[in-house]
Amino acid sequence: MAARAAIVTGASSGIGLAIARMLGQEGYGLTLAARRPEKLATAAAALEGEGLELQHVAADVGSEDDLKRVVAAHRDRYGRLDVLVNNAGVGFGAPVGETSTKRLDMQLAVNLRAIVILYRECLDLLKAAGAEHRNALVVNTSSISGKFGQPWLSVYSATKHGVVGFTQAMNKELGADGIKSCALCPAFVDTDMTEFVKESVPAEQMIQPEDIAEAVRYLTKLSPACVIPEIMFTRPGDGL
Ligand SMILES: NC(=O)c1ccc[n+]([C@@H]2O[C@H](COP(=O)([O-])OP(=O)(O)OC[C@H]3O[C@@H](n4cnc5c(N)ncnc54)[C@H](OP(=O)(O)O)[C@@H]3O)[C@@H](O)[C@H]2O)c1
Repeated sequence: MAARAAIVTGASSGIGLAIARMLGQEGYGLTLAARRPEKLATAAAALEGEGLELQHVAADVGSEDDLKRVVAAHRDRYGRLDVLVNNAGVGFGAPVGETSTKRLDMQLAVNLRAIVILYRECLDLLKAAGAEHRNALVVNTSSISGKFGQPWLSVYSATKHGVVGFTQAMNKELGADGIKSCALCPAFVDTDMTEFVKESVPAEQMIQPEDIAEAVRYLTKLSPACVIPEIMFTRPGDGL
């Protein structure tokens, strides 16, 4: 059994898959969660083929019951939680006058509400890890839109600003318990989510998922005295 354990949501592709692979390589026992079961099973099989220790739980993070199932499965299998990666996310572009309530609710639920619920459901495990080694870590995938609001992505931007604000609050609220939180705020990353823009911004000019995973590896290795509350990733020419 792995000495340390992690949950990664949105682990079936892109940034989440790269973070999961890195954590598995670092020796963490993994619980991978994502929405579509077949896609998740394929990703999990690939990581298992690389010799990583894991289980996978198909779950819609917009569902409180599904989130509880993920945490229960993780608790049963590993009994501890050292790293929680709240990474699942969705974005829909639309002018504000054409924002559908369904898509508004989905982005709020997946990008923000799920993170709050997972902190709550994992709190005892995170506090136990924090008491043991003062380095329990929660990584929340925000976005550069969580720092600078983007037109036609206003709802997405609002949810990702919410992730940054919640992360700041968690550091103030849970820091004394040895629980550190970091919001990751990337510009364009080469994943399925950015397929729509790859005709004008080529994939090779985008940040790579492995760049984000390396930052998370670094976060796991900090001394207990050091907290990094957010990391922005931009590209040459983004001008930020
Ligand atoms: N790519 C970028 O340029 C960029 C920039 C800044 C921030 N981000 C953020 O990075 C995170 C990861 O996105 P990505 O770029 O890696 O895209 P991706 O490859 O499309 O990955 C998204 C992941 O989230 C999962 N997911 C989506 N909705 C879900 C739900 N309701 N329940 C459970 N899992 C769900 C997906 O599973 P299914 O495929 O089964 O739905 C998939 O595993 C997101 O939070 C995104 O907002 C991305």
